[in-house]
Amino acid sequence: MTAIVHRAMSRTNDPRLREIMASLVDHLHAFAREVKLTEAEWEAGVDFLVRVGQASGATKNEAMLLSDLLGLSTLVVLLNNEQGRGETDAALLGPFWRNHSPECKPGESIARDPGGGEPLTVSGHVKDLEGKPIAGAVVDVWQASPVGLYENQDEKQPDHNLRGRFETDSQGHFHFRTVRPKGYPIPVDGPCGELVRAQGRHPYRPAHLHFMLTKEGYKTLVTQVFADDDESIESDVVFGVTPALSGHFEADGAGSWKLDYDFVMQPGERRIPRAPIP
Ligand code: BEZ
Ligand code: FE
Repeated sequence: MTAIVHRAMSRTNDPRLREIMASLVDHLHAFAREVKLTEAEWEAGVDFLVRVGQASGATKNEAMLLSDLLGLSTLVVLLNNEQGRGETDAALLGPFWRNHSPECKPGESIARDPGGGEPLTVSGHVKDLEGKPIAGAVVDVWQASPVGLYENQDEKQPDHNLRGRFETDSQGHFHFRTVRPKGYPIPVDGPCGELVRAQGRHPYRPAHLHFMLTKEGYKTLVTQVFADDDESIESDVVFGVTPALSGHFEADGAGSWKLDYDFVMQPGERRIPRAPIP
């Protein structure tokens, strides 16, 4: 069977598509043979994929969530990440990033909702592989609210709450104000939630801030910085935490927090990902 399918696909013009599909078919067929997939199980799998598509729309990308839950998203970003050369560890984009978030002045607050939360100041430097500052890098940040929801999941939050873009100064420095993010469960109201429950996994991500760093001539860096004191730091449901991405939120004793984290970018292509939801 496998050889016949290979022959049928062998006229694919695009060499990379030919390579990817040939390998995918090899692995899919090997998987079915290994577990001796029954017809009922195959049917359940197809139905699951149909429901993943049906659950995706304007406010949710269930297909990306499935990739995240299977560890595929983290595997792909780390395969394309050059930690060995000094680039900061990458982390998955996640389903809630929005393109074109507000451009902010240095030090501005991204907390656009007077709804409270513990104040947090975030600062850091963006450097190249030689440790030289990168001026004019765009630091795009997004995070969940103190109740653990992104603005595009929560009608109560103002548009673009807890999102903003900052530019590094001549020293590669950036800083902004926000509120401390909280750990949160991934959306579990769809087929991915069924899977998580069937596997006896908890649905939580440790508290984190998302960052996307871009600058012409440098490889886009998509990553996250996690709160090292979060109880889920060792068991992120989507496998995004690496030791180097564990950040320390320092208390100032007066109810405010500080996070300082430096990023290293490497030369390469400035690529803007496709937004997971419109
Ligand atoms: C996030 O970090 O925003 C996220 C990642 C994967 C699934 C759900 C949320
Ligand atoms: Fe997140």
